[in-house]
This record gives sequence, C-alpha cells and structure tokens, in this order.
Amino acid sequence: MTEGMQKLPTYIYGAGGLLCGELLRLLPEHPHLLPVCAITRSGPTPAVRTISELHPHLALDLPLSNPEQGIEALAQDLELGEAVLFLGMPHGESAGTWRAIRERLGPLAERLWLVDLSADYRIRDAAAWEVAYGTPHGDSPGLAAFSYGLVEFARQALVGCRRIAAPGCFATALQLACLPLWRAGLLAPQGSWVLNAVTGSSGSGVKAKASTHHPHRNGNLCAYALDGHRHELELLQACASPGVTDSGVTDSRATGSKATTPPAVIFQPHSGPFVRGIYLTAVLPLAGTTRVDELRAEFHAAFEDAPFVSVRDSGAPELRHVLGSNRAELAVNLRADCALVLLAMDNTLKGGSGQALQALNIAAGWPETAGLPLSGMGIA
Ligand SMILES: NC(=O)c1ccc[n+]([C@@H]2O[C@H](COP(=O)([O-])OP(=O)(O)OC[C@H]3O[C@@H](n4cnc5c(N)ncnc54)[C@H](OP(=O)(O)O)[C@@H]3O)[C@@H](O)[C@H]2O)c1
Repeated sequence: MTEGMQKLPTYIYGAGGLLCGELLRLLPEHPHLLPVCAITRSGPTPAVRTISELHPHLALDLPLSNPEQGIEALAQDLELGEAVLFLGMPHGESAGTWRAIRERLGPLAERLWLVDLSADYRIRDAAAWEVAYGTPHGDSPGLAAFSYGLVEFARQALVGCRRIAAPGCFATALQLACLPLWRAGLLAPQGSWVLNAVTGSSGSGVKAKASTHHPHRNGNLCAYALDGHRHELELLQACASPGVTDSGVTDSRATGSKATTPPAVIFQPHSGPFVRGIYLTAVLPLAGTTRVDELRAEFHAAFEDAPFVSVRDSGAPELRHVLGSNRAELAVNLRADCALVLLAMDNTLKGGSGQALQALNIAAGWPETAGLPLSGMGIA
C-alpha cells in the first residue's frame, strides 16, 4: 500500500486478551490501519457488545464479533482488496485457528497481512517447538510461510512478508541484549551466558492465576521455570543463523559470529511485583580483551537505525523510561572478563503488540514508527 491510499481494514482475533487490548489502544493512531472488527470466542453478549465494554480503557466504538461472523466479514473485505489480521491467542490455539481461517479464505488469503502474537510460528522446527511447548503443532505445513518479526535484526528480510510471527517478550529482551556482541564475534565460544530477567504480571495474560493474583504478586519476587524457559529457543534459533535472516536474506547489520557451536544459555526468569515491564541483566563472557567503549560501539552500530532501541553510555536503563512506549533501553558495561548488558522494556509493547505493529509497518512499507509511542510514561 502506498501513501494516500485507503486505510486497510484491520481484524483482531482474541480481542478479550491483554495484548489485543494494547493493540486496539494503538491502532486508532495508525495512519494506514482501520480497526473494523474485534473477534472474541464468546461473541457479543447482551452485557458486552462493544470493545469498550470488554476493555473499558478503550475509547473506541467497535462492535464485537464471534469467530464465524468475523471471518465472514474478513472474507468479504478481501474480495474487495487487502486486509490485516492480528491473532492474539494462547500458544497452541493460534496455529489451528489460522489453518482453519486459511482454508476458509482459500486464494483470498494471499491478500491478507497476518501477524501472530503467539509462539506458534516463531520456531522453524516443528519438532523442537513440540518439545518446548509439550503439545503437537497445529499447523506445521504453515510454518514455512512465516517470518520472525524482530525488526532490529530482520529489517530488510521482513519487507513484503505477509505472515509475521511476533517474537516473545523475554525472547525480544534476550536477543536485543545478546545478539550484537554474538554476531560481532566478541563473545567467548565456551562461556555460559547468564541471563536474569524480571517480568511484570501482565506477561501472564488477562486471566488471574495463582501466581499472578495480587496478594501473591504484590510485594513479592520469585524465580520460576528453574529448568529453563521456552523463550531460550528463540534466542538459540537466532544464534544458529547469525548474519542470515529467516528468509535467507542477509541483513546489512548482521555480520556473522565466528562461533560454530551454540552458546550455553542460562536464562532465569523472575516474577516481579509490578504489572508492565521486563528488566534483564545479561552477563556475557568475552572472547578476548575488549574495552568498554568498543562494547558500546558495537551496540550503537547494531542499533544505529533502530528508532525503538536506545543505547545509554552511562547509567542504567529504568522501566519508567520505557513503560508505555515501544522502546527498549540498553546499557553495557565491562565487568571482569564479561560484558554486563542491562535492558528495560515494556513487555506488552516492545515485547508484544507494539513490535507486532512495528514488524507490520516494515513488511507493508510504512514508516517504522507509524502508530507507535516513542516516549515512556515516566511515572510507571
Ligand atoms: N502478555 C505479554 O506480555 C505477551 C507478550 C508477547 C507475546 N504474548 C503472547 O501473545 C498471546 C496473547 O497474549 P495475552 O497476554 O494477550 O493473552 P491473554 O490475555 O491470555 O489473551 C488471550 C486471548 O485469546 C483468546 N483465546 C482463544 N482461545 C483461547 C483459549 N483456548 N483459552 C484462552 N484464551 C483463548 C481469548 O480472547 P477472547 O476471550 O476474546 O476469545 C483470550 O483473552 C499469547 O500467545 C502470549 O503468549 C504475550
């Protein structure tokens, strides 16, 4: 789509979820997208008919649809031209849903821009995905059509891609912190990467669980996934193909690591007593003697043209700098023989809905920042 054309009708599936709520907060500001349909499993009910009744923070007059009505309306829009569909469902649900929609749409699916927020299309190897997620993959034939949507490492490869797998929230933080030095060949081939991250409760979605319930979470801090976390797989997949993006296109920023074996990754997530945000501390053993200004130069070069990554030369990133924005804030220091990389970002935006929109912007040829907040709220 080029400037001056009509806005594309935009469909949201899983509308009751947290990320879809965030997306629908952003979409009205987008110059090329028009939210037309919010699809929810239960459809409209007498008590909840519009999106603002489902998400009262949204000042948006958008009726709810059940899946059948919503996909029928999407098919009609596609008869007329292009449309956009965001899937905001749990992992394991998304793949089967998209497979069924694709079959219903037939050749019309070619006109659709699809962004999946779940984990279902992020891992190229269906068998590896099944081991990590403990369930059969619902659409392994559909996997190859998807591109991994971490714009900072696939800006060129994403252009024109109509099937985008938005990265996981922790996976985004891990890759932004680790890949610049890995791809520059500055990390020790044998060293273990120690990656500690604290996430807010919104990372677990809209439904209250014992571990996200306020009395449990407030004033508390605890580790979980002590045997490893699924998002490590996204980091390892990226490390396994240094310098080459998912589509096989070499990205100009990705120079290629000298290491041939995958890194040993020790990622330990923690549940923090706040709602939004991820704070990551990464300790990355260096291959040789490196000055701190060389480390910082690598990060500045890696994110030179990245409007949503800020690299600090002093001080530490803070959640309150980035919450409410699509920005990740990074700092790197030299500690003993390791790079200490700190990162703060909003899991619901740069780790979720925001970067999904950012990837679509790049894919569709729109300005990368269209519809996306650059400034944080300051008061978190
Ligand atoms: N939260 C984050 O920080 C974050 C960040 C990055 C990626 N993600 C991923 O993005 C996806 C959406 O995340 P979210 O936090 O928005 O999740 P969520 O709040 O739990 O919402 C998921 C929505 O999916 C719909 N759904 C369809 N089938 C379902 C089923 N069988 N069980 C439960 N819900 C079902 C529901 O919407 P309706 O009731 O409207 O049908 C539900 O509200 C997930 O795959 C998640 O892992 C989340």
